[in-house]
Amino acid sequence: MQLTSPPAVSISVRRAVVGDAAAYARIMGDPAVYPGLMQMPFASEELWRQRLTDANALGKTDLLLVAELNGDVVGSAGLHPVGPNIRRRHAWMLGISVLPQVRRQGVGTALMQAMCDYADNWIGALRLELGVYTDNMGAMALYRKFNFEIEGTQRGYALRDGQYVDSHMMVRFHPNPPRPPSR
Ligand SMILES: CC(C)(COP(=O)(O)OP(=O)(O)OC[C@H]1O[C@@H](n2cnc3c(N)ncnc32)[C@H](O)[C@@H]1OP(=O)(O)O)[C@@H](O)C(=O)NCCC(=O)NCCS
Repeated sequence: MQLTSPPAVSISVRRAVVGDAAAYARIMGDPAVYPGLMQMPFASEELWRQRLTDANALGKTDLLLVAELNGDVVGSAGLHPVGPNIRRRHAWMLGISVLPQVRRQGVGTALMQAMCDYADNWIGALRLELGVYTDNMGAMALYRKFNFEIEGTQRGYALRDGQYVDSHMMVRFHPNPPRPPSR
C-alpha cells in the first residue's frame, strides 16, 4: 500500500514592503476578508502603496507584517500605536487577515506569534487591544489561544453590509513585563 504524506507547508513571516501593495489589495479586497475588518470594498493597489509607504516611513512605529505560504503572500497583520496620546504609549492595537483559501493551516498563528513576540520583547507593550465583531468565532478562537480576553462589547459599532454590528474589545496584557535591574 502506498502511503501519501500531506504536502509540506512552509510559512514565513517578514515585514511588509511597498512592493507588497498588490498582495495587500488582493487580501483586503477579498469578500471573505474585508467585512470582518474596518476595510472597504474596492481595495486598490495604488491606495495600499500609499499606506505602506506611510506606515514604513522613518520615525513611524507601526509594524506591518506579511505571511508567505510556500512563497506566496497570503496573510497580513499590523501592530499600531493606539493614538498620539502620550499617556497611552503602553497600548497597541492589532489586526490580522488571511486569505480564505489557506485558512486553518497555521498562517494566522504564525502572524500572531510574531506580533506578540515583537510586542512583548521589543517594544514592551503592556496592553494589546483589538476589536472583533461578536459573530467572528474563528478570530476569537485564535485570539484566545494568545490569551486575549473579552473586555467589553460595543453595540452597533460598525456598519457591515447594511447592518450595524456589535464588536468585542479584546485585550491581552504583557505576561511578564520587563523591569529595570535592581541595584
Ligand atoms: C481569523 C483568521 C486570521 C485566522 O487565520 P488562520 O490562518 O485560519 O488561523 P490558524 O490556521 O492559525 O488557526 C489557529 C487557530 O485559530 C482557531 N480558528 C481559526 N479559524 C477558526 C474558525 N473558522 N473556526 C474555529 N476556530 C478557528 C482554531 O483554534 C485554530 O487552530 P486549529 O486549526 O488547530 O483548530 C482568518 O480566519 C481571517 O483572516 N479571517 C478574516 C479576517 C478577520 O476576520 N480578521 C480578524 C478581524 S478581528
